[in-house]
Amino acid sequence: MVGLPHPLRRLRKALTEKSAKKVALVTGGGTGIGAACCRALAAEGFLVGIHYRSSQAGAEALAASLPDAFLVQADLASIESVDALIGRLKEVAGRLDVLVNNAGYNVNAPSLTMKVADYDAVHALLRGTWYLTKSVVRRFMLREGGRIINITSVVGHTGNAGQSAYVMAKAALDALTKSLPQEFRDRNVLVNSVAPGFISTEMTAGLPEEAKASMLSRIPLGRMGTPEEVADVVAYLATRGSYVQGTVIHVNGGMYGG
Ligand SMILES: NC(=O)c1ccc[n+]([C@@H]2O[C@H](COP(=O)([O-])OP(=O)(O)OC[C@H]3O[C@@H](n4cnc5c(N)ncnc54)[C@H](O)[C@@H]3O)[C@@H](O)[C@H]2O)c1
Repeated sequence: MVGLPHPLRRLRKALTEKSAKKVALVTGGGTGIGAACCRALAAEGFLVGIHYRSSQAGAEALAASLPDAFLVQADLASIESVDALIGRLKEVAGRLDVLVNNAGYNVNAPSLTMKVADYDAVHALLRGTWYLTKSVVRRFMLREGGRIINITSVVGHTGNAGQSAYVMAKAALDALTKSLPQEFRDRNVLVNSVAPGFISTEMTAGLPEEAKASMLSRIPLGRMGTPEEVADVVAYLATRGSYVQGTVIHVNGGMYGG
């Protein structure tokens, strides 16, 4: 590849392409929105890598229901664990075409009482997401290009009381979405965010009724979204959307327009 520095050229040469199918990896793919993304990408013909941290049984059940899938375990808050994930990805699939950075972690606590350890846990996942992204772009996507889809959140744009660490992490991920295309330029790597609003998953099931009612009152469509409605946009960005670059697509029933 003309223009690539020597180490990257060597790296590319060393890759063995094991999968004839395009490969998509979904982090936090065993649950909620991630699982819906796995199903949507499988329906588009991808070999789907389902990443999970601890919910192995759910991830295995999902893998068994898809035509072509494999599992990868990692705690994305740990750089060593992300390195191991990349090694496994290389071994099992040998390529990566689409990375969906879906894993997310929130601690509900007002800024004034939030513990540093809780803040760090939220931001260690952000750091791991950045590290995974740069690693897969270097190792797998430089050959033919690829797509990175970051699952962020409406609250990264509107703010939200009691979630400042999460809000900051999601806003930072959207900022990464805007920066990476400027770094990759002619590498044919598309980077976009999908920012869900209030979606019916485990993450929102635990919210107090009062918070749910207040959230619903702010949604013009008058209901929560489904994981499938988010996954539908992810599938579009993974397979079509060839001139969509460095932007945030809001999927929130009208509660915020960007
Ligand atoms: N549900 C919503 O209303 C909503 C709204 C906006 C954004 N989101 C975002 O959508 C994504 C999916 O959320 P969901 O609603 O499906 O909830 P979820 O709790 O089912 O999914 C979160 C996933 O992230 C994984 N994860 C968390 N910390 C991790 C770590 N350190 N290492 C590896 N994996 C880790 C979890 O294991 C889980 O699979 C998240 O990024 C979330 O922030 C959700």
